[in-house]
Amino acid sequence: MELETQTAGALEQAPAQCGYAFDILTLFPGLFDGLRQESLLGKALQTGVVELATHNFRQWATDRHNTVDDEPFGGGPGMVLKPDVVVRCLREVRQKRPGAKVVLLSPAGRLFKQETAVAWAKLPGLILLCGRYEGFDARVEDEVDEVVSIGDYVLNGGEVAAMVIVEAVGRLLPGVIGNAASLNEESHSTALLEAPHYTRPREFEGRSVPAELLSGNHAEIARWRLRQSLQRTRERRPELLAGLDTRAWSKKDRQWWAEQTGEGPATKARPQRVAPGAPDRGAAAPADEL
Ligand SMILES: C[S@@+](CC[C@H](N)C(=O)[O-])C[C@H]1O[C@@H](n2cnc3c(N)ncnc32)[C@H](O)[C@@H]1O
Repeated sequence: MELETQTAGALEQAPAQCGYAFDILTLFPGLFDGLRQESLLGKALQTGVVELATHNFRQWATDRHNTVDDEPFGGGPGMVLKPDVVVRCLREVRQKRPGAKVVLLSPAGRLFKQETAVAWAKLPGLILLCGRYEGFDARVEDEVDEVVSIGDYVLNGGEVAAMVIVEAVGRLLPGVIGNAASLNEESHSTALLEAPHYTRPREFEGRSVPAELLSGNHAEIARWRLRQSLQRTRERRPELLAGLDTRAWSKKDRQWWAEQTGEGPATKARPQRVAPGAPDRGAAAPADEL
């Protein structure tokens, strides 16, 4: 598969230190055209200090419609990006970039911070997976090094998030910013994270879709998702659980959560801070009969 690489089309000067590569896996490679042409980073790309290659998932689809998404198991709105197509694309890119870190962009990831940018600037490169629709089939996460969010808000796709990371990391690379000393003088709610998604195939490389999602039992699916959300949030963004309100939960769910946290029955009275109009996933729990 050809890389849609745009680096030093017209080299105006010898690269200060070439070698850092950003690989962007996306359904919309054209969104990166502006980034390549403008600003300090655009200049670094044009002079070969940094490389930026885009890879369109659709090129790894195998049917005549170039299908990249499918309906979510367990129901719900939107479409999910298929694991087979995404993983084929990722593996091909990865084997050409030894040492690069693979990062999946998701609002349900760990927060990207300046300290992250500093650490990643020391790598040979980054492979950034941009989602669309409801995001990736959860099994794609087994293939990546990190799942990262750029902030507590939801974008339509991962491309802008990838650009944020390219900007934040790229400007730390030698030769991108004229006065490197200026880098040393710079400054610097709570709803649950979403549960994992799965789509066809039911079996992918030995990993099955969880039985709860195939049960057709809406209450069971809701309970599974709530628990997965809690486990994910506790694992990835534990600070979001500080104001967790469990009062609307079923007794079973409260007992289960108490066992998970080892804190005994959880009955915090503190109100949960949720953006106006946003679904209150923490409190909107299944009824007692679950
Ligand atoms: C509409 S979003 C999917 C949101 C997902 N259903 C959820 O609630 O977690 C589509 C894609 O945009 C990207 N995205 C959206 N918000 C993001 C953020 N804050 N940080 C990183 N990527 C984001 C991700 O790649 C995601 O797969």
